[in-house]
Amino acid sequence: MIHTQTAILHADHIHHTFTAANGQPIPALEDVSLALVPGTFTALIGPSGCGKSTLLRILAGLVKPISGQVQFGGLALDRPQRQISLIFQKDNLMPWRTVFENIELPLQLAGVAKTEKEQRVAHLLYVTGLLGFENQYPAELSGGMAQRVAIARGLINEPDVLLMDEPFGALDALTREQMGQELLRIWATTQATVLMVTHSISEAVFLADRVLVMSPRPGHIIREVHIPFARPRGIELLTDTTFTQLAAQIRAAIH
Ligand SMILES: Nc1ncnc2c1ncn2[C@@H]1O[C@H](COP(=O)(O)OP(=O)(O)OP(=O)(O)O)[C@@H](O)[C@H]1O
Ligand SMILES: [Mg+2]
Repeated sequence: MIHTQTAILHADHIHHTFTAANGQPIPALEDVSLALVPGTFTALIGPSGCGKSTLLRILAGLVKPISGQVQFGGLALDRPQRQISLIFQKDNLMPWRTVFENIELPLQLAGVAKTEKEQRVAHLLYVTGLLGFENQYPAELSGGMAQRVAIARGLINEPDVLLMDEPFGALDALTREQMGQELLRIWATTQATVLMVTHSISEAVFLADRVLVMSPRPGHIIREVHIPFARPRGIELLTDTTFTQLAAQIRAAIH
């Protein structure tokens, strides 16, 4: 168990319940505690509807839990913070802004100068394979491209904490692998603290230092698996025996 003192972001005993349109309570999260140590990469995996997106919204300061507390940098988190970036499960782009304008938004809000903005957007357009599409509008993009725009927007501010909700869900297998590698490269240079929701067990094991497994709704964390592989990690890891064993352990925990 990680001592919460060393964590940049931690949640203590979070409970959250929604109310359905007919008034029925929908318990979504039950006693979830987790601590993110600076510079680490955590993957979160669990069945559909178990509360993963809800947990990310709470950790981003967008939703206040029914009970329990979230602390960021030692202070209670009660609103979104510029240093915490959330990449939503749905791309959530602004339809009236071009790709360029969507990606630059966090820099615009932070008042960053024009030339620096242009340089940083150009770099991320390159990284996400979107060069040449900067003047298109979201409606003119494929699902995977829109998702890559959202990833670029989430990274542009170089956040301390990057919360990602199935960021690669709409990508084909090859692009997904490339984006995963790219993410590790960016992560190694920015030293951000990452929490990423994924449905892919092998993606979780490949990318993360630790994988948290959630139970079906109401979600709570039922398993924490430490991933011991050194970095940088190459694609040959996917056939390593320990890799396969860890993936099997996680699969067993989910079912
Ligand atoms: N705004 C809302 N109002 C009512 N119920 C909600 C709301 N948001 C989520 N829920 C319910 O809370 C539960 C958890 O939802 P959540 O989106 O967090 O799951 P998830 O783990 O992200 O699922 P998935 O893997 O399918 O994205 C679900 O039962 C869902 O119906
Ligand atoms: Mg979700």
